[in-house]
Amino acid sequence: MKKMTRVALVTSGGDCQGLNAAIRGTGKALYNLIENVEVFGMYDGYRGLIDCDYKFMQADDFSGILTEGGTILGTSRQKYIPGKDIVDDDGNSVIPQMLDTYNRLNLDCLVVMGGNGTQKSAKLLADAGMNVITLPKTIDNDIYGTDTTFGFQSAINIATNVIDYIHSTASSHSRIFVVELMGRDAGWLTLNAGIASGADVILIPEIPYDIEKVAEVVEARRKKGRTFTIVACAEGAVSKNDKLLDEEERRKIKESSMYPTVSYRIAAELEKLTGQTTRVTVPGHYQRGGPPCPYDRVLATQFGEKAAEMIINKEYNRMVAIRNGEICSIPLDDAASRTKFLPVDHPLIQVARSIGTSFGD
Ligand code: F6P
Repeated sequence: MKKMTRVALVTSGGDCQGLNAAIRGTGKALYNLIENVEVFGMYDGYRGLIDCDYKFMQADDFSGILTEGGTILGTSRQKYIPGKDIVDDDGNSVIPQMLDTYNRLNLDCLVVMGGNGTQKSAKLLADAGMNVITLPKTIDNDIYGTDTTFGFQSAINIATNVIDYIHSTASSHSRIFVVELMGRDAGWLTLNAGIASGADVILIPEIPYDIEKVAEVVEARRKKGRTFTIVACAEGAVSKNDKLLDEEERRKIKESSMYPTVSYRIAAELEKLTGQTTRVTVPGHYQRGGPPCPYDRVLATQFGEKAAEMIINKEYNRMVAIRNGEICSIPLDDAASRTKFLPVDHPLIQVARSIGTSFGD
């Protein structure tokens, strides 16, 4: 009789589309490819690992979840001290408790599905002696070492749809619309949805904007008889002036701002400069909800299957990735080392500029 392989699945950080598809891909491949295997689902991400809160998952538990949004296991965010620790509300390290759960369940490996923060925390778990394989998920597409993440394409679809719908009302009322999209400090989602929906202006964190330039776009459009303007604005967009400040100063300005988010400030400034009625639309977490698009279902399934293969081959402490269309893996150390921002010379930015889209710079 072959030795039992014990694997625990963790979905951590903000949810996104494709998590259940990845859980399914991993679980089904584990049960199909390994003779003796036990799979545990940890509840609410790392919280389940800290509290030893889990369920034993039978092969059948992985059926019927492919198209479901969110995560059947639940998720949570933990406090992370950069490069050092994962702590509770009192600042005490929770890594010993996580290690305790790992040993109690006699695990061979943790499969952790998460975004940037999760990858960094997973590295600390690997440093503490646990075997870890991670899958890159996030609508932000900002994980280093992989060309893309699951969740990203589904969010592009939703964000594009929002801007498509805004077009007709913006046009009917001859208004400016600022549509604020997620993505944290990276502009991947806004750039892609902005191009896909034909936004007139795309504002992303990597290219600080000048509001006067954005107003010039509105004027130029008006001169051509285009009575409305659509601005796709990343939640992390920053003005040229604010970019000159250090992080602490920027944080203070943000906290004391009369506007809830950057889009409201941009809208107020644009209305003042152009005299044109301006509205804001913030789809927010809607961008993370609902079923994964087919691309994300396929990608999440491929990632999950790869994780199972890596467990068989004992290739631990690595993140599954896709590079140039090939499913592969990279050291977790690399994946957790930095954030993948949008390069300002990215070909897509060039394409957008060539067709006349403004980046407000
Ligand atoms: O990282 C995914 C993301 O949706 C970001 O785009 C966004 O800034 C953040 O999470 C929102 O976090 P929360 O779900 O905690 O409000």
